[in-house]
Amino acid sequence: MQIADRLLNTPPYPFAELARLKRKAIEEGVDLIDFGIGDPDQPTPAHIVEALREGAGDPATHQYDETGKGLPEFRRAVASWYRDRFGVELDPDQEVLRLIGAKEGLAHLAWAVLNPGDLALVPDPAYPVYNVAAMFAGAEVHRFPLREKGGYLPELGAIPADVAARARMMYLCYPNMPTGAVAERGFYEELVEWAKGKDLLICLDMAYSELFFDGRRTHSLLEVDGAKEVGIEIHSFSKTYNMTGWRLGYAVGNGEALAALEKLKSNVDSGAFLAIQRAGAAALTGPQDCVERMRRIYQRRRDLLVDGLGELGWRVPRSPATCYVWAPVPDGHGSSELAETLLREAGVLVTPGVAYGKMGEGYVRFSLTVQGERQEERIVEAVSRIKEKVKLT
Ligand SMILES: Cc1ncc(COP(=O)(O)O)c(C=O)c1O
Repeated sequence: MQIADRLLNTPPYPFAELARLKRKAIEEGVDLIDFGIGDPDQPTPAHIVEALREGAGDPATHQYDETGKGLPEFRRAVASWYRDRFGVELDPDQEVLRLIGAKEGLAHLAWAVLNPGDLALVPDPAYPVYNVAAMFAGAEVHRFPLREKGGYLPELGAIPADVAARARMMYLCYPNMPTGAVAERGFYEELVEWAKGKDLLICLDMAYSELFFDGRRTHSLLEVDGAKEVGIEIHSFSKTYNMTGWRLGYAVGNGEALAALEKLKSNVDSGAFLAIQRAGAAALTGPQDCVERMRRIYQRRRDLLVDGLGELGWRVPRSPATCYVWAPVPDGHGSSELAETLLREAGVLVTPGVAYGKMGEGYVRFSLTVQGERQEERIVEAVSRIKEKVKLT
């Protein structure tokens, strides 16, 4: 059987490889402490589960989602959440589109916007989906570096003028996975100014918009005047409300880009279960203290990990946001080598930074979504195993 070149030329999805290593370690009887994939270990808040239960009992939810864009009540809930959270007005009919998770929207967007031979701008390091989606759409990918000394923000002026002129799309992600960095409003103002006059769509992945710490709130690109002319934002319920398995997200912003994505999606999917959309609306319009509780949980875990590693002489910055700690590997180690050593010697699973691009060399990513129970104790245990079993310097 022929397998398409586009697949043969695609490396395995990095987290599939991680899942394989994890299965192997568990089969070998390793008591694994899993800082691998970012999959929340806490349950979905009860009122959201209850909304699903109620919705699933209503036969009206058992049919196709014929709206194309998503249930009106879902889109209105998104618009109202955006107004409260960012002070941004959205037209629920033109500027909100329901997705089957952020990943689906991020991937399909490339097909809706890019022609073969076009150029897509993708950060390095980044969520691997951006790069692969642009490649699947036949586009050329230009990776631009996110560097620690630049706060992991792109240096827009350093993108060559001929590259910027050919680019039809730019992916960005803030709060940033994998580095945990945030973008301030000033950066978004600079970005909108830079994008104006270019034939380029900015796609800001905001899957981690609500995971911010130390009391600092994050911004939306759409707060900036003129941003809707150049950009869209993609949101997820996965991390904000611990709903990874539910597969629900949404895109907001530029109506023309969303209409194109909707047209593409109408040809490849038939929407999301209506009861899940009702539950999504309940999540956005219901009490938000569950989100604050989750932020406190991750912040405590971040501090336990960063302080613990610091005591071993491994200096790791405190992420201002996301459920990740982006740890520069100590001198003498490589990113993959350290990840393998931590797994082999200490049974501690982390992701090598190179899984996110070559700028990720020199880093490993700890996810604060520790699988299993007694997560805080497991973090302390991981630090003590690293102390005993791994030579860091
Ligand atoms: C940066 C980033 N964007 C999007 C997603 C996917 O979100 P969803 O579960 O809504 O597809 C992830 C998942 O880990 C992610 O890390």
